[in-house]
Amino acid sequence: MDLNNKTAVITGGAGGIGSALARALAKQGAKVVVSDLNLEAAQKVADEVGGIAVACDVTDEAQIKALIVAAEKAYNQVDIFISNAGFAAAEPDHAASASNEIWQLNWDVHVMAHVYASRELLPKMIKRGDGYLVNVASAAGLLAQISDAAYSATKHAAVSLADSLNIAHTDQGIKVSVVCPQYVNTDIIGDAKRTDDQDFPAGLLTPEQCADVVIKGLQDETFLILPHPEVADYAVLRATDPNRWLGGMRRLRQHIMGDDGRVDLKRMLMRE
Ligand SMILES: NC(=O)c1ccc[n+]([C@@H]2O[C@H](COP(=O)([O-])OP(=O)(O)OC[C@H]3O[C@@H](n4cnc5c(N)ncnc54)[C@H](O)[C@@H]3O)[C@@H](O)[C@H]2O)c1
Repeated sequence: MDLNNKTAVITGGAGGIGSALARALAKQGAKVVVSDLNLEAAQKVADEVGGIAVACDVTDEAQIKALIVAAEKAYNQVDIFISNAGFAAAEPDHAASASNEIWQLNWDVHVMAHVYASRELLPKMIKRGDGYLVNVASAAGLLAQISDAAYSATKHAAVSLADSLNIAHTDQGIKVSVVCPQYVNTDIIGDAKRTDDQDFPAGLLTPEQCADVVIKGLQDETFLILPHPEVADYAVLRATDPNRWLGGMRRLRQHIMGDDGRVDLKRMLMRE
């Protein structure tokens, strides 16, 4: 898709990958609607890119509808909707130990938010024969996030939802992409986040590097956008030799286990 003059709505746009996407889209000439739980930070990004900011909790269908109405009021129609809002809360103990509330929040933020946006936008996009639905899922949606079963399961569901959207609506002119990065230097990686500009561990992308890959993917209308291309090889191994893949993941889990018995992302990013 030619991004020039298109209206793009980004959830979770106040920081991290979302704000980098807002800047990168604006550079391509897109009109950007920056939304987030944090309106003040979203407004700063919107001011920077000449767009508008809208407060939106993506777990609430009424707020997603209101976000789309606000975008349409400002720019007539939504051409691109990027469901990017996300969070991570590592499980406290064993793989089923996260609370029901955390499981539900993972489901609501990582899956239902995109269902709500698609439900609101698809009828209009189908009528126009055009529109782009994008979900920033994760490599965890193809593989697994060690020590976060709820994140992994719901990111897998997000990838599956994108498959369904593609299968049902590509022939009606709708474009669908799902973005599956590994580690990107944002707040979501907690104290593993680098504050310096140098010595990034291999595999840790800056939000800007991630956004550049996404922009190219949207221009090329690539369904599966992989900012870390090696994820494709891991996914092939998982599909063709799951025992070997799981054995590797178990060894990795041992290797990155912190002294407190919890996974330490810093060890993950600094591993040989
Ligand atoms: N950074 C990584 O290593 C990485 C890797 C793979 C996938 N991702 C995914 O990328 C997306 C963006 O994450 P990020 O890395 O930029 O993290 P981030 O923490 O910098 O940004 C996430 C944003 O989402 C917002 N948000 C959270 N819950 C929300 C809600 N209910 N409603 C509206 N906004 C909400 C937060 O306020 C924040 O601004 C997420 O979906 C995340 O799962 C990140």
